[in-house]
Amino acid sequence: MTAEALREPMPLNGHFTDRSILSVEQFNPLAVTRVFDEADAMAAMVHQQGRSDLLADTVVANLFYEPSTRTFLSFEAAAVRLGAGTIATQGVEFSSIAKGETLEDTIRTVASYADIIDLRHSETGAAERAANVSRVPVINGGDGSGEHPTQALLDLYTIKHKLGRVDDLRVTMVGDLKHGRTVNSLARLLALFSGNSINYVSPREYDMPEDTIAALAAAGVAQQKHRDLKPVIEETDVLYVTRVQSERIGDKSAKLMKKEPYVINAALLEQARDNDMIVMHPLPRVNEIHPEVDSDPRVVFFDQVESGLYVRMALLAMVAGRSVVHGGREAPMRSTMKPWMTTS
Ligand code: NCD
Repeated sequence: MTAEALREPMPLNGHFTDRSILSVEQFNPLAVTRVFDEADAMAAMVHQQGRSDLLADTVVANLFYEPSTRTFLSFEAAAVRLGAGTIATQGVEFSSIAKGETLEDTIRTVASYADIIDLRHSETGAAERAANVSRVPVINGGDGSGEHPTQALLDLYTIKHKLGRVDDLRVTMVGDLKHGRTVNSLARLLALFSGNSINYVSPREYDMPEDTIAALAAAGVAQQKHRDLKPVIEETDVLYVTRVQSERIGDKSAKLMKKEPYVINAALLEQARDNDMIVMHPLPRVNEIHPEVDSDPRVVFFDQVESGLYVRMALLAMVAGRSVVHGGREAPMRSTMKPWMTTS
């Protein structure tokens, strides 16, 4: 395979072998359904046998140049449970980036060691830059305030299993919608399915970016901005809460959000429906969800965490051409590791 094949974040249309996963914009409903079917199969496999040897011949590189607990460890665990080996760098300070190496040179290097690269980076567009020079598929684990496609998939997967549908949802997104990549990706993913509407609840300084609003409007999604959560809580099916992205805006601006009134507590959830509604958060939470609601059955953030394992296992298997649901349909990816010297 050539780097040329990865130059654009191409639409997936159900075909994942050797493809980079950079943006939710690559997905159509068929591709989302494929991932969810595969994730269901992964969940069943984990529950029945714990791990498999599906990717025993594969090495997965996890390059995480920004802090991460769940995304990093779930990609590691996903690879391990599929029998793959992993190599990892966490933090710029332990890599040659600290010596001034470009992302492109790092990616060319890692692509000589591994079959799939999972990348988290502080710059918007970094995953696409990486894919443009990589001879192996790159999976975007979050690029600045740009996209977090694997999180959006695991969020929608959780919604599907909790509420039984991915359409006709009234979703309320709360918090720092301007810098949060999870809400940007999830909003765009929701736009693929009919009848979804979104309320954006944030202070003016943290409004959902206009380009996302315009993209969803073009897709026919009903959207409304609010400054107060109370008027919309009762009609909400999915309450998606986010933290202020203090690492992107500095502590001074972050203090503004600390004073804002969107803390989810028991009194607020009293006003939500008793059933058929869920409270989500990509985690980590800081102070936007009071621990007193953790045992409320509508609160699902640790189920999201578990979904992340199955969805990332699904993506790794599919990108490697080893789908267990649609097995044998696509050529395996073994051609990516080609030694530059002649071997016998
Ligand atoms: C999110 C992220 O990194 O964008 N975390 C995650 O991957 N679960 C959300 C956040 O950090 O606020």
